[in-house]
Amino acid sequence: MKRLLTFLSTLCCLSFNLQAQNKTSPSSLQERMQWFQDGKLGVFIHWGIYSVKGVDESWSFHNHKISYKDYMAQLNGFTASKYNPEEWAALIKESGARYAVITTKHHDGVALWPTKEKHFSTVKNTPAKRDLIKPFFNALEKQGIKKGAYFSLIDWSHPDYPAILRDSNRYKMQDDLARWGRFKTFAHNQIDELLANYNPDLWWFDGEWEHSSKEWESEKIKDKILKAQPWAIANDRLLDFGHYETYEQTIPPTRPKKFPYWEACMTSNLNWGYHPDDTNYKTPFQVISIFADVISNGGVYLFDIGPKEDGTIPAEQVHILKELGKWNKKHEEAVFGTIAGIEAGHFYGPTTLSKDSTTLYLFLQPQSSGQVMLKGLNNKINKIRVVGTNYELTHQVQSKMTWGNVPGIVFIDVPAKVNDTYMTVLALELEKPISIYKSDGEK
Ligand code: GLC
Repeated sequence: MKRLLTFLSTLCCLSFNLQAQNKTSPSSLQERMQWFQDGKLGVFIHWGIYSVKGVDESWSFHNHKISYKDYMAQLNGFTASKYNPEEWAALIKESGARYAVITTKHHDGVALWPTKEKHFSTVKNTPAKRDLIKPFFNALEKQGIKKGAYFSLIDWSHPDYPAILRDSNRYKMQDDLARWGRFKTFAHNQIDELLANYNPDLWWFDGEWEHSSKEWESEKIKDKILKAQPWAIANDRLLDFGHYETYEQTIPPTRPKKFPYWEACMTSNLNWGYHPDDTNYKTPFQVISIFADVISNGGVYLFDIGPKEDGTIPAEQVHILKELGKWNKKHEEAVFGTIAGIEAGHFYGPTTLSKDSTTLYLFLQPQSSGQVMLKGLNNKINKIRVVGTNYELTHQVQSKMTWGNVPGIVFIDVPAKVNDTYMTVLALELEKPISIYKSDGEK
């Protein structure tokens, strides 16, 4: 009987998935966001002419660290001579990431695709002379990785865009609405080009802050995106019309409550783009700890890399992605397709839960051998496994009063031999879906 039920439920899931794939549009936000929420990890790529001198992307001229002329002279040095999009996609796959987001155009206005608009592109204005987006998106598609397009709404190089440097503008938008209108048409046209020729699964807007959603016509942008690709998703930098919230360079200290879906984007050192003078790289352990914290709170992690002008990825970033990949492969069941774990305070570390809430995953600091403690768990534990190994662990339940409802305190024995190099993950198989005791206890 149990087998028959499992078989029927598998059939039902299968047909649901097929229906979802064939459906022309999602029927709920949850259905739209499912792949993102289950995917947990993305790779962000900041690639542009700023990698020639290794200066801040766009901001270096805006903030007067370099003159606009010298910044734009980098156009002549951007070759993409060793660009290998298949290798990029293979590395992203190896890291375990389920989506990638590439800068199609940063605030400097240089498009990485052959824009038909009269404006800068790597195709027209650099020795690279080629579309850098198409072959990458094709390679991602072959690997089954979702394609994300970063697009800067502001364009400090465009002659009809009001702002250019931190302390000077070309004009004030209110004084020349016709000129602003020309810029808006240009920006919308570029979005149309990306939609028609590249069909991104995810739109990562940026640079929204200089204008309101009404001024950008965000709603119109959202409508055209969804008309062309009804399953697409966009971040909240499309102002009022995003599907999920993006945190930049921080992880929320407590679980975000405003939006059901969120992402934390973070650099691998201190910069988004290639910066050879910046050696302040996060270690694989730090990246994995951040990642575990993000998924523990129901988020998605977007980890950034900054390739060099020739298209090679700095060795330190390759190393992080490969180590992350090894760890993800071993701990796949505790990471991908899980849901946020239990509230803070019950266990001192990140946690996740299987979708049916019958398996609780505990993420341990390396070398936390000895015993780890968990409190407030009402359930009986059937089994404790070390994820990615054949080890089973023993545990004790202490201080369980026969006369009260307060659950006992669980101590799990973690011998040193089960430790992972980075984070060890325990799977607690529970008798029933998890139940956490939420009162103050007995006096
Ligand atoms: C900021 C910066 C930009 C960077 C982005 C990534 O908005 O303006 O340079 O690309 O963050 O999140």
